[in-house]
Amino acid sequence: MAAKSPPKGLRLEKLQPGHIPAILEIEKHANAAPWSERSFENELTHEHGVFLVAFIGADLVGYAGMWLVVDEAHITTVAVDPEFRRQGIARRLMVELLARAHDAGMLGATLEVRAGNEAAIGLYEALGFVRSAVRRRYYPDNKEDAVVMWLYDLERALP
Ligand SMILES: CC(C)(COP(=O)(O)OP(=O)(O)OC[C@H]1O[C@@H](n2cnc3c(N)ncnc32)[C@H](O)[C@@H]1OP(=O)(O)O)[C@@H](O)C(=O)NCCC(=O)NCCS
Repeated sequence: MAAKSPPKGLRLEKLQPGHIPAILEIEKHANAAPWSERSFENELTHEHGVFLVAFIGADLVGYAGMWLVVDEAHITTVAVDPEFRRQGIARRLMVELLARAHDAGMLGATLEVRAGNEAAIGLYEALGFVRSAVRRRYYPDNKEDAVVMWLYDLERALP
């Protein structure tokens, strides 16, 4: 089945300092170990980082980031406001990151995800990522395993 289109009026912007308060609001509900304000601020100037924010009108509805490491895109985070989930916003953010990674000469992409995070694993698998390793008891807060996923060929995820 073809992926559904993201909501009308969805637009992506590069992270700006003024976005961070709204991001922190989403982050505290989206992540069991939320990133700090400083972590997002660091993304503003990260030499090899790309960090995108999704808006519908004036509402900041999601964000996603990556670091470009040699020829690999490391996805660092992706989250969507709970009220706007299952509308294709994370997929849109991820496809844009992967397209930019491809344009920058990256060959593949990788990430870590909590083993119990079915929504995120579903998203990544829908984009062509495969499970490649498990890091046992990786997350300090609840000792959950991390699944390492790889998209070996970036072009697979691009429209
Ligand atoms: C994971 C997350 C970013 C997905 O955002 P989203 O905008 O709802 O995702 P999309 O609507 O773009 O979904 C794209 C595909 O991902 C998969 N997916 C998304 N949510 C899913 C869910 N709850 N269960 C199973 N698959 C899911 C589906 O294949 C979906 O396609 P479909 O709707 O056509 O079936 C969102 O649930 C979230 O913010 N979670 C909390 C933060 C988080 O866990 N981030 C990942 C850290 S590694």
